[in-house]
Amino acid sequence: MRLHSRDDRRRAGPRLRVAVLGTGYWAWWCHGSVLSARPDIDFVGFWGRDAHKAANAAARVGRGRGFTDLDEVLDAVDAVSIALTPDVQAPLAARAARAGKHVLLDKPLALDVAAADEVVAAVARSGVTSLNFLTYLFQAEVTAWLDDMRDLAAAHGRWEGASVSCAGSIDTPGSPYSDSAWRRARGGLWDWGPHALSLLFALLPPVERVSGVRGLRDTAHVTMEHAGGPVSSMTLTVTAPEGTQESTVAVWGPGGRHTLSLPTGTLREACHRAVDRFVEAIARGSRSHPLDAAHARRIVAVLDAAERHLARPAEQRMTVPAP
Ligand SMILES: NC(=O)c1ccc[n+]([C@@H]2O[C@H](COP(=O)([O-])OP(=O)(O)OC[C@H]3O[C@@H](n4cnc5c(N)ncnc54)[C@H](OP(=O)(O)O)[C@@H]3O)[C@@H](O)[C@H]2O)c1
Repeated sequence: MRLHSRDDRRRAGPRLRVAVLGTGYWAWWCHGSVLSARPDIDFVGFWGRDAHKAANAAARVGRGRGFTDLDEVLDAVDAVSIALTPDVQAPLAARAARAGKHVLLDKPLALDVAAADEVVAAVARSGVTSLNFLTYLFQAEVTAWLDDMRDLAAAHGRWEGASVSCAGSIDTPGSPYSDSAWRRARGGLWDWGPHALSLLFALLPPVERVSGVRGLRDTAHVTMEHAGGPVSSMTLTVTAPEGTQESTVAVWGPGGRHTLSLPTGTLREACHRAVDRFVEAIARGSRSHPLDAAHARRIVAVLDAAERHLARPAEQRMTVPAP
């Protein structure tokens, strides 16, 4: 089967049948609206545990229908795009992969390493294509900056450190995530952490050791030691005080010190690019992709290590003597 990319839309060909697993805001506003607008995709609909929400999501994008029976939707598709809470995403992604369906994943892949391992094993055994939609890595302004940083490192020497700060707020009036139970429970570490790590993984060698300290609200301050000596840090919160929301990345080394203010728009454009790569990889029969389930699992492993270090008792830290 030859599947056509968005750039190749004028030529006719078999279309990839895709459904979204999930019925929430991100499922319909991003995944569903992007997939249903593409001429190279036969958009089948939304699966959710609530029939009304699944039908509503389909009505919002004006294509496909709602499903509550997972086997029925898996029978009807070649691929699924997943926008569920991460603890639900992992087992369903593994189930879809075992059924021979390609999986477009969202971040984080899972909330523990064992669940992520299950997805990686299912994808590898079935030989399906997987791709993790790490938004920044599909936003043109970010990928252009990362390309420049790669060129500078090649010309001047490797980067010696990097830092990412992601401060958002699900308490902003009108936030579509204000009722997101998993974000309330797991905070910035698990919501922003995959985005921050997608940048740090692109700039620096693999992470070997992790340490962290909790700040106020849900803020996680995490330090990472990378192979060969570079050190990076990330500061992450989904409950930043009003007026303090901002996300930046900085990198330094012999090639200078460079900072990028991370974009907040172009999310659906990024999703289109991710779907382009997903469709191309499936058409090529390419089973491994730089942003596949194994990459997503490496992110979960760092977040899991950070979570464990953040949970250590205060007595295990150095106390500053009182004057
Ligand atoms: N790449 C990005 O930039 C980006 C941006 C936003 C979100 N996301 C990701 O997209 C995913 C979904 O995000 P969200 O904002 O929609 O999360 P959310 O607001 O917490 O919504 C969770 C969704 O999961 C469903 N769900 C929860 N428990 C379930 C269960 N046991 N069985 C079946 N469905 C269940 C909910 O269905 P009910 O309504 O029936 O409870 C709802 O559709 C997350 O992984 C998030 O990180 C990524």
